[in-house]
Amino acid sequence: MSFLEVKNLHKSFGGTQVLKGIDFSLQKGDVVSVIGSSGSGKTTLLRCLNFLELADMGSVCVHGEEIFNATKKYADRDLRENRLHFGLVFQGFNLFPQYTALKNVRLPLDIQTGERLKNARKARKSGKDPAGAAEKEKISVLRKIRAWLAENKACAEERKRAFADNALKAEKLLRDVGLGEKMNNYPCELSGGQCQRVAIARALALEPEILCFDEPTSALDPELTGEVLRVIRSLKSPDRAMIIVTHEMQFAAEISDRIIFMADGVIEEAGTPQQIFREPKSEKLKAFLRNYAENR
Ligand SMILES: Nc1ncnc2c1ncn2[C@@H]1O[C@H](COP(=O)(O)OP(=O)(O)O)[C@@H](O)[C@H]1O
Ligand SMILES: [Mg+2]
Repeated sequence: MSFLEVKNLHKSFGGTQVLKGIDFSLQKGDVVSVIGSSGSGKTTLLRCLNFLELADMGSVCVHGEEIFNATKKYADRDLRENRLHFGLVFQGFNLFPQYTALKNVRLPLDIQTGERLKNARKARKSGKDPAGAAEKEKISVLRKIRAWLAENKACAEERKRAFADNALKAEKLLRDVGLGEKMNNYPCELSGGQCQRVAIARALALEPEILCFDEPTSALDPELTGEVLRVIRSLKSPDRAMIIVTHEMQFAAEISDRIIFMADGVIEEAGTPQQIFREPKSEKLKAFLRNYAENR
């Protein structure tokens, strides 16, 4: 069984068919690079996998569990939950300019913590929680007040602890991408390469099993691409899969287990780096590689 299985994904915008039946699968630990000309549907594919767009047809399974099927309706909460399997690093970083690097990285963690604490409070109030149910049975008003105060104190302490843990985790992630000295800087005070590394740390915060990159170096000056590619290389791990949309062919050849070449909304050819770069079969892939070689 594959770890990620994408079946027959279709997506149209208005009358334009952008994805015309995408099928692929990967195993945990795999690195798959997606190459192809501009407009071939690479970004749309990543956005559909991260549920930023909903595919019109097709399904996505992780660990054999169907997390998306276009024939079904999903509540926002379910999409948010299912999205946690994936992390996405955007082409243009998408950092919040009003927050420091640290706050940008801890934000998803803090939102998740806030939701978890809110749900726990709701469960206690509705009496689903055994402790809450027991509280309801107490008769003495004084005991009720005491219990309420103790619970409030415990909640406040848990809250403080959880948010402090988030800060520690975000600090570690930033140190891991080499930005230990820049935690309190705002995006406008960072270079493009540093911003992209903050964005990578942020995408890692919720520990996605499948990390997607959408042309992570294309918005960078050439001298800054190396530092970002180094960080991406360091993330290759048996614990996660990576899908990297890139125009850095040398990098794709080095890091990838498999390459997918997209053209006009379909996977025109897929194979090992050796098969794709040294023994291309499709005429479209041959033309794409020729064009790349001529323009670099
Ligand atoms: N939100 C959208 N609305 C309308 N058309 C879109 C939208 N997103 C993408 N497209 C169109 O889909 C096609 C593929 O885009 P995209 O997935 O960004 O390709 P790539 O990343 O390979 O360059 C393009 O023609 C683009 O204009
Ligand atoms: Mg794109």
